[in-house]
Amino acid sequence: MEITLDHVTKHYPGQREAAVEDVSIVLPAGRITVFVGPSGCGKTTTMKMINRLIEPTSGTITVGGADVLSMDPDRLRRGIGYAIQQAGLFPHLTVAQNIGMVPGLLGWDRARTADRTAEMLDLVGLDAEFADRFPRQLSGGQQQRVGVARALAADPPVLLMDEPFGAVDPITRGNLQDELLNLQSELGKTIVFVTHDFDEAVKLGDRIAVLGPRSKVLQFDTPEAILANPADDTVAGFVGAGASLKQLTLLRVRDVEIDRTGVVTAGVDDPVPELRGKLAESRTKFALVLDRRNRPVRWVHVRDLNAATSLAGAGKPVGDSVSVQSTLQDALEAILTEGGNAAVTGPRGEYLGTIGLGTVTDAIAALREEHSDDHSDNHADNHSDNHSDNHADDRTGPRADSEGVTP
Ligand SMILES: Nc1ncnc2c1ncn2[C@@H]1O[C@H](COP(=O)(O)OP(=O)(O)O)[C@@H](O)[C@H]1O
Ligand SMILES: [Mg+2]
Repeated sequence: MEITLDHVTKHYPGQREAAVEDVSIVLPAGRITVFVGPSGCGKTTTMKMINRLIEPTSGTITVGGADVLSMDPDRLRRGIGYAIQQAGLFPHLTVAQNIGMVPGLLGWDRARTADRTAEMLDLVGLDAEFADRFPRQLSGGQQQRVGVARALAADPPVLLMDEPFGAVDPITRGNLQDELLNLQSELGKTIVFVTHDFDEAVKLGDRIAVLGPRSKVLQFDTPEAILANPADDTVAGFVGAGASLKQLTLLRVRDVEIDRTGVVTAGVDDPVPELRGKLAESRTKFALVLDRRNRPVRWVHVRDLNAATSLAGAGKPVGDSVSVQSTLQDALEAILTEGGNAAVTGPRGEYLGTIGLGTVTDAIAALREEHSDDHSDNHADNHSDNHSDNHADDRTGPRADSEGVTP
């Protein structure tokens, strides 16, 4: 269900200025649109007008083509899931009663509601035993999960989420974000998600609306496009430092070319002299040793072979490898940890190739190119990432450098 706002204004009585002024925006069906903007800019007011917890002063809002002002507010709200910060659970009701609230209002019978409640608990990763607990007996993160379960219980096509993960610690928050994305990949709801955290917006949004005072839409685009080309200085300020690095969370290892042949590989059971021969032939100094199931286990420098009797214990263990699903940000971290190249593995941990720093910096450059055609004013174009030289240093591990790991 698509949601449209057309010249929507909200003027609270007694306030000098409008809280939301003349906002027009179309939120695509089946996608997550994030409203991101500073505190007090009118995000909550804008969101609450969609389910008529607040009535607009003027303008039109449609959900799935229907004008919300012409609908019965209670019916409208039962068709729109709503999750808020602090979960907003009823303290005197059990978890199951909280989750079953809307299905109950919709007239579902007890058995169906109970089934659905159990299904929802499972969906948000809570054990069945939580059903009979009260909200105060739950951690903040568990309460948020129940809040999401409640919002989804009646299977509404539209979900409004107002800073739903704002009150939990960063690690729990990251987990809840991951779970929401997993859920959404199955559910395909039209989700409006409000946050003041731009990183959260980039992670979750298919589209991001960057809002300024009175919910003025400063930019409405994909995360990629906003990161690459903030529309103006205000958006650029909001995007903040490290915009190039943030773009790395948008790309996966599978999106870039990995080096499948540049690194010499050997099996753990291969004779040491055989590997020495391969290295000499390829004129490289580092090799990757794979176990019997073809998984990368050790990095070996040619010098390590002098004292080695077998490859099983030679060199140093592979510290950090990445999969084809990993983000380029994860890959960058692994590359830096490994000291120049990270091993890339497939679904069963099998070796596929390697990825190096050059691939990551090329990907950033390509993203900039891609988006710099749309706008003449390219704020993301600060070439300050003057990464230090990547010279050979035998002690720190495999490097794509003059020693020629990459031919
Ligand atoms: N019920 C209200 N009555 C009067 N002013 C309000 C009311 N709710 C919010 N406001 C004002 O409207 C503006 C936008 O608030 P809000 O929508 O809550 O912003 P946000 O969610 O972005 O923090 C703020 O200046 C706030 O003080
Ligand atoms: Mg708010």
